[in-house]
Amino acid sequence: MKTTSLTDSLPSKMKAIVQTEYGSADVLRLAQVDQPVVSENGVLVRVRATSVHAGDWHLMRGRPFFIRLIYGGVRSPKIKILGTDVAGEVEAVGKAVTQFKPGDQVFGDLSEAGFGAFAEYVCVPETALALKPTSSTFEEAATVPVSALTALQGLRDVGQIRSGQKVLVKGASGGVGSFAVQIAKAFGAEVTGVCSPSKAKMVQEIGADYVLDYRQARTGLKQQYDLILDVAAYDSVFDYLPMLKLKGSYVLVGGSIARLFQVMLFGSWISRISRRRVRCLVQKPNQADLIVLKELIETGKIRPYVDRCYALSELPKAIHAIEQRQVQGKIAIAIQSVSEHPLTDAS
Ligand SMILES: NC(=O)c1ccc[n+]([C@@H]2O[C@H](COP(=O)([O-])OP(=O)(O)OC[C@H]3O[C@@H](n4cnc5c(N)ncnc54)[C@H](OP(=O)(O)O)[C@@H]3O)[C@@H](O)[C@H]2O)c1
Repeated sequence: MKTTSLTDSLPSKMKAIVQTEYGSADVLRLAQVDQPVVSENGVLVRVRATSVHAGDWHLMRGRPFFIRLIYGGVRSPKIKILGTDVAGEVEAVGKAVTQFKPGDQVFGDLSEAGFGAFAEYVCVPETALALKPTSSTFEEAATVPVSALTALQGLRDVGQIRSGQKVLVKGASGGVGSFAVQIAKAFGAEVTGVCSPSKAKMVQEIGADYVLDYRQARTGLKQQYDLILDVAAYDSVFDYLPMLKLKGSYVLVGGSIARLFQVMLFGSWISRISRRRVRCLVQKPNQADLIVLKELIETGKIRPYVDRCYALSELPKAIHAIEQRQVQGKIAIAIQSVSEHPLTDAS
């Protein structure tokens, strides 16, 4: 007869980066927490890699303030384990799960699935996941979901990109921008990337036809574009309207809050008076688009540009590098190489 000991009923433990207050990367600590239990509709993923993007550090800092209202936790964060991008192996599935089985290699965007990828395990609904591109390592695949979905939806859905168009990607050297340059090329566009001068070589390497620095783009442009994807909107949309062809599209993806509100509040009015389309993108995670990205990667049309890879315990360092604009393309975080650290129990 099988006997049950007291420890059998206790949840297994895992390592995770935990946050109990808003602030700089110093508020993050590596801790031991309860491993999630697979739910009826859930897929338990053994996380092999994650990555960091601008949204992660906005949530970490609780800035801009409205982010606290959206995700709960005005004074302290309700989400204790952040992490939006995931790549890993399916460990177990709930009874109602139909698309995945243990052993499948998956990747996904957890921004509408409770986050939690800065940990060894996460349990998420199957719709947040797709099979990982077979040609990518876990580290490469983990850099794809949020950034590449944003680039794809900004160019295809809001920007309505067409083959043969002239496209300007501002912020081309960052996470979203490095995918946007490649996706625009895959759509058959002629692409101009805008970035800091020190990152021009990288933007050329990923396929941009022309590269400009921010100053040249603002002041020296004679060229007119069909589509401007602005991932780094730190100056006014009015500076860029003369560079757009009549009926061309300006799509704001990221940048300063003031510029975001300018386009959110006045985009329709600016569109009417300028006879150009001025819009903001709000990225929506979805499985169908993850599959589009998987195919683009497997056919060699896009390739994640991974600048460097950190261990989970080094996550604060990775976030610091992004905040300081020291990164080209993306950073990956490898979960399996967590160094043995003295852990605090945060359960
Ligand atoms: N709308 C949405 O749904 C959505 C989804 C995801 C992300 N976003 C937003 O998109 C933006 C970019 O995200 P990301 O993950 O690509 O970020 P990232 O990897 O940190 O890249 C930021 C890019 O912006 C450029 N940049 C220019 N001026 C800057 C300044 N003053 N401060 C910071 N960066 C500046 C950087 O240029 P250099 O490389 O030349 O320094 C870099 O190319 C963020 O604002 C993020 O919040 C929006």
